[in-house]
Amino acid sequence: MSAPLARLHQQLPQLVLRTDDDSRQHYGLDWTRYYQPAPLAVALPATVAEVQGIVRWAREHRVALVPSGGRTGLSGGAVAASGELVVSFERMNRIGDFDRVARTVQCEAGVVTAALQQYASGKGLYYPVDFASSGSSQLGGNIATNAGGIKVIRYGMTREWVAGLSVVTGTGELLELNRGLAKNNTGYDFRHLFIGSEGTLGFVVGACMKLTLPPPPQAVLLLALPALADVMRVFEVFREGVSLSAYEFFSDQALGHVLARGQLAAPFEVRAPFYVLLELDDPMHSGDDSALKLFERCLEQGWVLDGVLSQSAQQAQQLWAYRESISESITPYTPYKNDIAVTISRVPAFIASLDALLAANYPDFEVIWYGHIGDGNLHINVLKPPALALAAFRDACEQVNEQVFALVRDFGGSMSAEHGVGLLKRDYLPVSRSAQEIEMMQGIKKVFDPDGIMNPGKLLP
Ligand code: MLT
Ligand code: ZN
Repeated sequence: MSAPLARLHQQLPQLVLRTDDDSRQHYGLDWTRYYQPAPLAVALPATVAEVQGIVRWAREHRVALVPSGGRTGLSGGAVAASGELVVSFERMNRIGDFDRVARTVQCEAGVVTAALQQYASGKGLYYPVDFASSGSSQLGGNIATNAGGIKVIRYGMTREWVAGLSVVTGTGELLELNRGLAKNNTGYDFRHLFIGSEGTLGFVVGACMKLTLPPPPQAVLLLALPALADVMRVFEVFREGVSLSAYEFFSDQALGHVLARGQLAAPFEVRAPFYVLLELDDPMHSGDDSALKLFERCLEQGWVLDGVLSQSAQQAQQLWAYRESISESITPYTPYKNDIAVTISRVPAFIASLDALLAANYPDFEVIWYGHIGDGNLHINVLKPPALALAAFRDACEQVNEQVFALVRDFGGSMSAEHGVGLLKRDYLPVSRSAQEIEMMQGIKKVFDPDGIMNPGKLLP
């Protein structure tokens, strides 16, 4: 054990510390597959006081700290590749003080998203932020990255659900931000500064999360479409007529990878170039046949080739599986991921330009389209040919990125809609934020983290 680590052990004898290779490999990496983990060690605090002790020790010894939740991030925000101390929140996973009147519940940072969803359901309530990685991702990470997911169109991002935030700053101070209040106009709201800050200002150690009433039973409508342009035509029709809780899309190549795993049968007899998945209030339950009428209208216009409406909650889940398994089914190809967004009204023009750009620049690579298109958010995944080395592949993708991001900039879009910036997209931050804004961000970081020990190298160029 190095001298600084021995000192940490001496200062916090109860703190669980792991220095073995397996733990360092495991906790030093998230779902981004571009980096080699090389942390100094892993700390697993059980209390806020231990977290504060770790930060004070890190200041004294100038050791960089990397927060670690479920490590399901896709931009390298939780990667520890340069001798940092990883601070895992998995032992801080208690769900406490439930307030039925305020509809809030106090959670520690290591609470797994699905555990909060189940807790809410046990109270007859609902926590709506949801994504394929809900079974592993943790609240602290969701808050630090302002996670989005599949129901943003109705419920917004994680930010909307944080009524109070407990953070330990880079100076070791504990701040209790907003304390669950619905109204609190007393100046700068630091809570929102910490949400989405990717651990660069301090550690999220707990949060007061809002819950809501469960929606009526939901149904899933999966549609097969002849062209990319129809994705938004169909969206406009449905958005006028029904209340959507999800509007997702994916290409036939994406479906091909899902089906190749052999766990799901093809959803339609014939394949189509694109598919959209809509989630809406179940027409069978509400007796409202608007959705079926809209479907017929799209069919008549030739914007839809075929469709299937779930007849049970189980079938709805099966239809969701086509969309939610895409990410996992392409993981073996070490995809280069872009997660871009434009305002919804600009999506049709944007996807037409992007389609032309990708077709011209990626003739040799397989490009997989999917995403939360109802939020204007596209996931563009380029698959690595097995014979090509990772570094050469990344270089090739980054060359095309220059043009993709020029397009994003022209459309006033975002170069990272929901995956965050982390290490992978750090150097592209100027695509979406001005030089003045970045300078101000650096100034804000200095206020909360004067020694630059909180997740250094992430987010800010
Ligand atoms: C998704 O929408 O499936 C997730 O953001 C993961 C991914 O993009 O791979
Ligand atoms: Zn996504």
